[in-house]
Amino acid sequence: MVVIREVTHSDRAWIQDTLREQWGALQIVARGRIHEADTLPALIAEDSGRRVGLLTFCVEGPSCELVSLDALEPGRGIGGQLVETLVAALRRRGCARLWLITTNDNVDALRFYQRHGFRLTALHVDAIARSRELKPSIPLIGHHGIPIRDELELERQVE
Ligand SMILES: CC(C)(COP(=O)(O)OP(=O)(O)OC[C@H]1O[C@@H](n2cnc3c(N)ncnc32)[C@H](O)[C@@H]1OP(=O)(O)O)[C@@H](O)C(=O)NCCC(=O)NCCS
Repeated sequence: MVVIREVTHSDRAWIQDTLREQWGALQIVARGRIHEADTLPALIAEDSGRRVGLLTFCVEGPSCELVSLDALEPGRGIGGQLVETLVAALRRRGCARLWLITTNDNVDALRFYQRHGFRLTALHVDAIARSRELKPSIPLIGHHGIPIRDELELERQVE
C-alpha cells in the first residue's frame, strides 16, 4: 500500500538523486525563477518502505507552487495521491490556490492535472528559451519527440 508522508532529513540524499535523475539537476526553472528543489518542502510516497514518488512545493502567502512531481512507478495513482495529500494540507492551512508550470511537450502531465481538477490559466510562448539561459541542461526535445518551447500554467482552487 502506498502511503504519503512529509520529508525527513534522512530523505535528502534520495531526493537529490531522484531530482538529478528525473530533472537533470537539483534546480527547477519556471517563470524565470530558479528553485533549488532539494531544499523545498516535500511529500514522499512510500510503498513498504520503498520510496516511489516525490512532490516538491513552495508556499507564498495564499498561493502554493507545485514545483516538481514524480511518480516513479507510473500508472499506479501515486501522482494523484501526492497531489491530493498536498491539497488537503493546503486546505488545513488556508492556502487558497495551487498552481504549476509544465511544458508544451508534457501532454501526459496535462491530461493528469486536468483530471485532478486543474484548469489551464496561461500559455507562455517561447518561455523555455529564457529558462535555458538559467538552466542550459533543459533538453531541446522532450516527451513524444516534441520540441520543448513553451510553458503552460495550470491552477486548482483549494476549497
Ligand atoms: C504525470 C505523472 C505525475 C502522473 O502520475 P501517475 O501516478 O502515473 O498518475 P496515474 O497513475 O493517475 O496515471 C496517469 C496516466 O498515465 C498512464 N500511464 C503512464 N505511464 C504508465 C505506465 N508505465 N504504466 C501504466 N500506465 C501508465 C496511466 O494509465 C494514466 O492514464 P489515464 O490518464 O488515461 O488514466 C507521472 O507520470 C510522472 O511522474 N511523470 C514524469 C514527471 C512529470 O512529468 N511530472 C509532471 C510535471 S511537474
